[in-house]
Amino acid sequence: DDNAAAGASTARLVVVSNRVPVPTGTGHKAAGGLAVALEAALKSHGGVWYGWSGRIVDGPPSPEPEQKRVGEITFAVLDLAQRDYDLYYSGFANRALWPVCHYRLDLIQIDGEDTEGYFRVNDAFATSLVPLLRPDDLVWVHDYHFLPLGKALRDRGAGNRIGFFLHIPWPPPDVASAMPAYATLLEALTAYDVLGFQTQQDAENFGRCLERDGFARHVADGIYETGGRRFLVKAFPIGIDVEAFRRTANRAVRNSVVQRFRASIGERRLVIGVDRLDYSKGIRERVDAFGCFVRSNPKVRGRVTYLQITPKSRSEVPEYRRMQEEVAEEVGSLNGSLGELDWIPVRYLNQTVNHASLAGLYRMASVGLVTPLRDGMNLVAKEFVAAQSPDDPGVLILSRFAGAAHELDGALIVNPYDIEATARAIARAYDMELEERQERWASMSARLPETDVNVWWKHFLSHLETPAAIPAGAETS
Ligand code: G6P
Repeated sequence: DDNAAAGASTARLVVVSNRVPVPTGTGHKAAGGLAVALEAALKSHGGVWYGWSGRIVDGPPSPEPEQKRVGEITFAVLDLAQRDYDLYYSGFANRALWPVCHYRLDLIQIDGEDTEGYFRVNDAFATSLVPLLRPDDLVWVHDYHFLPLGKALRDRGAGNRIGFFLHIPWPPPDVASAMPAYATLLEALTAYDVLGFQTQQDAENFGRCLERDGFARHVADGIYETGGRRFLVKAFPIGIDVEAFRRTANRAVRNSVVQRFRASIGERRLVIGVDRLDYSKGIRERVDAFGCFVRSNPKVRGRVTYLQITPKSRSEVPEYRRMQEEVAEEVGSLNGSLGELDWIPVRYLNQTVNHASLAGLYRMASVGLVTPLRDGMNLVAKEFVAAQSPDDPGVLILSRFAGAAHELDGALIVNPYDIEATARAIARAYDMELEERQERWASMSARLPETDVNVWWKHFLSHLETPAAIPAGAETS
């Protein structure tokens, strides 16, 4: 019954996210799985995708969103002034909220101007969105850039059903309460009708914040109440477009980038990691673990290539720049000490690789390394599984601190802080017999459709469309 309502309704959908994949009109755009899925949601309901244009302007930006209609979807975007971008995005979102949500209180930078800028930008986005809203639109706000947006819309008279989905983790109360303006943020979040999280654990952590600090009272089964309003807190684990990615991986054997790469490593076995350059991803620890694996398994010298594809990210944020240097140094030092005249152990790339080529590289790999120190879900883990050939599947090594570990229990689950244990997992994966590889892969592969990204958005919207009902007799007091 969960999915029955979605798609059948006539309500328009308004998606709000910081990044908006506005079509450029020149050829096919390189869109990720999530963007494609949200476009599918918008196509089926008709509607608006609203957010930042990706542009930073010198003077004050226009308060009128720039609109572009493509078929059923209107893309509506605002520019940001340099100063607002610095405070809202680089400052509060990425130097305060991001580290706290990834359990890194050592990296948090609290700055009153950032906090003020974050709320001001949220208010500005709300002010410009309100005139575009129709009374029965469903509004779906995404991610940590816009925690107070729902409340800001309510303050401006929006009576719509408004949902929120957090793509990153939500930590337990003791960690979460290190957020600057914690109480204001939590109170603002109670203005949503549905609050979605990646895992049960994240949803529970959030519920504990609400209750411990008196922001709302738990009524029944994920339903909370405050000031006479009720809202739902629930896990909606995200996934990939499973069939589309499988097809892409099947075709990718003929991809010329993949073929060139194959030729360049020859008979060597491939270990692969793909992550944005972010301290939450555990890349340094992973490079160390690979070095430890090679040192303790002399037979693999010259016979294995570790390909780490790591596009630079948020380079204007000092903690990211520092980390770029650290990883580059680590890789250089490992290649220098372990490499040979005809063997470079780690191939490290700071560039994006298109989806089709990635799918082919995943399929070619014997081992996939997905070892974040903390991650909301991690779709690379799911893509790696979907890309494998059933006849000869590779092995996934997965951090227990990624949301995906709650589902993909056929992976070798590791503590990414434990370098030696991760190195032993690589050795185990490297030597694993076909039968065990197939068993592990089949159990993971079978679970992918449960969270297929098209199931995910329908599931979320079905809850957003229907006010939370409390089963008779289920009230707790
Ligand atoms: C994470 C966040 C997204 C964000 C993406 C890329 O996945 O959850 O909201 O868009 O990282 O980061 P960026 O800062 O470049 O948008």
